[in-house]
Amino acid sequence: MRQAGRSLPEYHRVRGEGSILDAIADPERSIEITLQPVRRYGVDAAILYSDIVVPVAAIGFGVDVTPGVGPTVEQPFSERADLDRLRRLDPDTDTPYVLETIRGLVEELGDTPLIGFAGAPFTVASYLIEGAPSRTYGKTKAMLHGEPALFAALLDRLADLAIDSLVSQIEAGVSAVQLFDSWAGALSPDVYEAAVLPSTQKVFEAVASYGVPRIHFGVGTGELLSLMSDAGADVIGVDWHVPIDVARERVRGKPVQGNLDPAVCLARWEVVAERTRDVLARIGGEPGHVFNLGHGVTPDIDPSILEKIVELVHTEGRAGR
Ligand code: CP3
Repeated sequence: MRQAGRSLPEYHRVRGEGSILDAIADPERSIEITLQPVRRYGVDAAILYSDIVVPVAAIGFGVDVTPGVGPTVEQPFSERADLDRLRRLDPDTDTPYVLETIRGLVEELGDTPLIGFAGAPFTVASYLIEGAPSRTYGKTKAMLHGEPALFAALLDRLADLAIDSLVSQIEAGVSAVQLFDSWAGALSPDVYEAAVLPSTQKVFEAVASYGVPRIHFGVGTGELLSLMSDAGADVIGVDWHVPIDVARERVRGKPVQGNLDPAVCLARWEVVAERTRDVLARIGGEPGHVFNLGHGVTPDIDPSILEKIVELVHTEGRAGR
């Protein structure tokens, strides 16, 4: 999730002004920022400091991440000719800083696994088409339904970009990969299955042979969980809309990651502890659960609450016994 930037004072000290893409392009800063939550919270894995728009930005599509807003695009994707603006990624020349960051991190982290990631085709497409974060995904859905062949071609290109990026991250040393389809929950299951699933399946298939665990996550995906499970990941990330035990049934017993509501972290500790224990109880000590928040940390969350959650999960979760 987009965590560090949101909660840690030490992040704000190192992050610097301007676009997050500049911080990401600086391996020294990115290594330090990636390590901060591991140091502070003692979590079991690190997530690479990068962003889902890094590959599209690196091939020159004209994408930036506006602080406080999210990804914005100078000239949004609107017609077939725009496909020519989406070439494949050459990680060694387009995103060498990402690979340098990963190599540095693998050395620093020792036994702590590093999770690499990419944006899933649909979620990245939604930014390219809308031009900015959207609540309704109106333009995206208009293209999906109105120009299905163009939409499919766009998602296929974005699948290739995700594959190029993930393979390069795996080769540089990440221990697991996560594909973020954060906004897939905007779609109904039939539409998701017809218009989105094929490109997502392509990504998971392409990285299967590398043997690293593959995680798939989206927000508001309760009705999509079983289809998302079909997309091929080894682990399914779930947000808080569906209890984790119900989610696990929907993904037919696949390992699940989640799912404490981040907003719960704003309550007093007793309440947070109770909700955390509820997630653990629903899993009942069985294997195949990665405890996590259901989405990213918001900037108003007190880091000391997160420290306590990690401690509670370590002592009372299965790993603690
Ligand atoms: O915890 C981490 O810092 C991991 C690195 C990470 C970032 N983005 C850095 C970031 C990860 C895994 C992402 C993925 C990402 N980026 C997703 C998928 C995961 C999710 O949260 O659903 C999405 C949808 C994006 C696009 C994006 N980038 C948005 C919507 C925003 C928020 C804009 C804002 O300021 O509210 C960003 C910016 C961003 N990416 C931040 C961080 C730490 C916010 C703080 C900053 O700009 O420094």
